[in-house]
Amino acid sequence: MTPWRPRLGILLSGRGSNFEAIAANVLAGSLACEIGFVFSNKSDAPGLTRARALGLPCGSIPSAGIDRTIFDEQVAKLLKENGVDLVCLAGYMRLLSGGFVAQFPGRILNIHPSLLPAFPGLDAQYQALVHGVKLTGCTVHFVDENLDSGPILLQSAVPVLDDDTLETLSSRILKEEHKIYSAAIAWVAQGNYRIEGRRVVNT
Ligand code: GRF
Repeated sequence: MTPWRPRLGILLSGRGSNFEAIAANVLAGSLACEIGFVFSNKSDAPGLTRARALGLPCGSIPSAGIDRTIFDEQVAKLLKENGVDLVCLAGYMRLLSGGFVAQFPGRILNIHPSLLPAFPGLDAQYQALVHGVKLTGCTVHFVDENLDSGPILLQSAVPVLDDDTLETLSSRILKEEHKIYSAAIAWVAQGNYRIEGRRVVNT
């Protein structure tokens, strides 16, 4: 099978460390993709500033006060105009409309800082800490219209230690996020998987 070389559209709302980890692998040649566009719904997102500094195509549309469907149509148009064919959500704090998801079928990934289906939604690391689990981690999954719910590509587990704070636990998880997001993108680019129900299996 000829590997596909995706043009990534990275969507972020904040810090952008996952974007930076992906970009570092792309620039080093260890992840065979191109970064087609970096988009934020926040014009002052640090991740966007970093993308600009790297000279990557990037931009923002403020989402405040715009209907979700219309906003998402604008975003999808911008991504398509820039040749994006694989969308990677990286701390993008918006639920995608059905229309957006339908424009990139099987081509939208997200990273979440828990072992889904445990602790979906906001503050996943805090949820894990207060729940008292002994293991948590992160998940890369395909995106559908529901929150943190599509078929799972990769997960990585980390221990929760007795003396963990939100900061120490989050940073342990984040290190794993930076590894598995690029690995999941590489797997999708390679194309040697199939989706059986909720399961993503190697072919
Ligand atoms: C990460 O913890 C990611 O799992 C979650 O949002 C956070 C984004 O961090 N979806 P960053 O902006 O990539 O540094």
